[in-house]
Amino acid sequence: MSPPGVQDAINAVYVVAVLVFILGLKALSGPSTARRGILYAGIAMLLAVIATFFSPGLSNFGLIALGVIVGGLGGWYWARVVKMTAMPQMVAMFNGMGAGAAAAIAAVELLSNLSDRATAGLSIAGAIIGSISIAASVIAFLKLQGWLPSKPIVLPARQVVNTAVLGVGVAFGIYALLTAVTVWLLPFFVLLLLYGILLALPIGGADMPVVISLTNALTGVAVGLDGFALVNGPLGDAGYAMVIAGVLVGSAGSLLTLLMARAMNRSISNVFFGAFGATEETGVTVQGQLKPIVASDVAVMMAYANQVIIVPGYGMAVAQAQQKVKELADLLESKGVSVKFGIHPVAGRMPGHMNVLLAEVGISYDKLFDRDEINAEFPATDVVLVIGANDVVNPAAHRQGSPIYGMPILDVEKAKSVIVNKRGQGKGFAGIENDLFYRENCHMLYGDAQKAIGDIVSELKKAA
Ligand code: TAP
Repeated sequence: MSPPGVQDAINAVYVVAVLVFILGLKALSGPSTARRGILYAGIAMLLAVIATFFSPGLSNFGLIALGVIVGGLGGWYWARVVKMTAMPQMVAMFNGMGAGAAAAIAAVELLSNLSDRATAGLSIAGAIIGSISIAASVIAFLKLQGWLPSKPIVLPARQVVNTAVLGVGVAFGIYALLTAVTVWLLPFFVLLLLYGILLALPIGGADMPVVISLTNALTGVAVGLDGFALVNGPLGDAGYAMVIAGVLVGSAGSLLTLLMARAMNRSISNVFFGAFGATEETGVTVQGQLKPIVASDVAVMMAYANQVIIVPGYGMAVAQAQQKVKELADLLESKGVSVKFGIHPVAGRMPGHMNVLLAEVGISYDKLFDRDEINAEFPATDVVLVIGANDVVNPAAHRQGSPIYGMPILDVEKAKSVIVNKRGQGKGFAGIENDLFYRENCHMLYGDAQKAIGDIVSELKKAA
């Protein structure tokens, strides 16, 4: 038995941890406070873990400490060495581990307590969500890492097969619950993991952030359900901490998922079941010609501009061109040119992708403008430089029948001149021709973004 008051003290720490979690979430809502938000969330998690170590019902200290050391060192190492472009797959992997932990807790609960139907029912629900979430997260990781094709992998009769796999899997779980026979848990877990794989395979690589965000929300729900199940066990109140943490993750993840879908003007069901990007748009002919331009001409245009807006996209991230972009912005500003950045909410491959890359090289947040703010500025802008962005500046979004019809875009075509940097004729993630490139006021600066922007910088320096 622990001395009286210990559980009260532990619970008090849990309450503090929850408050710090909420402060962390609040700080994560803005780029300038996001670092602080991560720090708060880390401190809150540390407080909750330390407090749990003092729980009266806790045993197996050695194993838990080993898990904390292995997980902590692994997480610390991978977070330090990961490249910014590989961040989405790392988030997918870490999220998958959270989901795996939730499914494993549910499995342990079920194996030890299958006859208590109320508690086991919660664990079955947690196991369903956790298993689907870990399997989908692993597929997301493999696609983003390039170890599986990024394009949707569409199997025949997939909706029927998927529904059958899910239905039979859940039926095994319910049967295990009703008969209290643990052997039925094996096909239950296998089929749910299979369902998670089948669910994620037909989703294109660029939709993976939405998948990760939703599976993250699901992981939160699974953790919350596990928490409810644990409340009846020896750890008692630690379960409440899990419930609150799960609810926070579940609600924040759901909101982020909805925000991303809204920014693409797509429904969640379209992202998950629409196999978006499996087929390319055909039958649309664009008028006009592609007009190449060289870096020296771009440098002259920019040096004589009053205002330049830079619109980065996925290609800037792939090319790791952000340092060159910073040099370019500094040089132009030293010549008295006003430089702003137009950031589309789903440019790149993860939420805040562009903001993070630009912040990494010290571009100040007050130069970054979101879509609504910057769209009003394009008509009065001399030069817009689009760097490796495609879908987020595609005027096809205004054309009925286009796969991206209705997606709010950056209206760069309204500027006096538009320069688009990309390597060749590659389409964007949506696989749609972009008639911006053929417009009268648009010129193409071909080449890898790092080299192309570097060339403009060199030309500007030469001219100085
Ligand atoms: P994309 O439409 O994917 O276009 C990227 C362009 O970059 C391509 O056309 C490619 O053309 C060019 N590119 C590739 N590598 C390059 C390099 N090394 N140097 C220069 N250019 C390069 O990108 P976007 O405009 O950023 O749009 C993002 C897409 O992802 C949208 O469809 C969005 O809906 C989707 N999406 C994003 C998110 C989040 S949260 N960001 C979530 C879900 C979906 P070339 O091959 O010719 O070079």
